Amino acid sequence: MRFGIFGKELENDSIYILKPLTMIYLTRRERFNAAHRLYREDWSEEKNMDVFGKCSNPNWHGHNYILFVTVKGEMKPELGYVVDLKVLGQVIREKIIDRLDHKNINLEVDFMKGRMASTEHIAMAIWKELDSHILALDVELHRIRLEETENNFVEYFGN
Ligand code: NI
Repeated sequence: MRFGIFGKELENDSIYILKPLTMIYLTRRERFNAAHRLYREDWSEEKNMDVFGKCSNPNWHGHNYILFVTVKGEMKPELGYVVDLKVLGQVIREKIIDRLDHKNINLEVDFMKGRMASTEHIAMAIWKELDSHILALDVELHRIRLEETENNFVEYFGN
């Protein structure tokens, strides 16, 4: 006897697998601190200071960034979780945190080369760097939330 949708018996012998999907969203927090400056090379110092203010200080300034990586995936009933948080944390640290922490984002971070070192661009670049590694864990990236200060943060959903 085989069962289909709502437990009705199927007339033919086809295999009908009932697999209820339980999607869970899970967030891992990591922190890093880094220096940066908002600056366009094709503008004069004066124009940069006019537009970006003290964020354009030529001698840099730093932030204690807080990164929230939210993934979504199907519940793994046999394990009781969506993804192994220890592994997820390792991936985020190896692919992102180790490359940003205690660095100058404008000068030292390869995946930020040629991009404005704004919270928006950092969040989008983190998404790009992480995406395939998150998929390899059998979950999907859902949101990158990057807090630059207590009052300012960015959320990016990949599009
Ligand atoms: Ni800043």
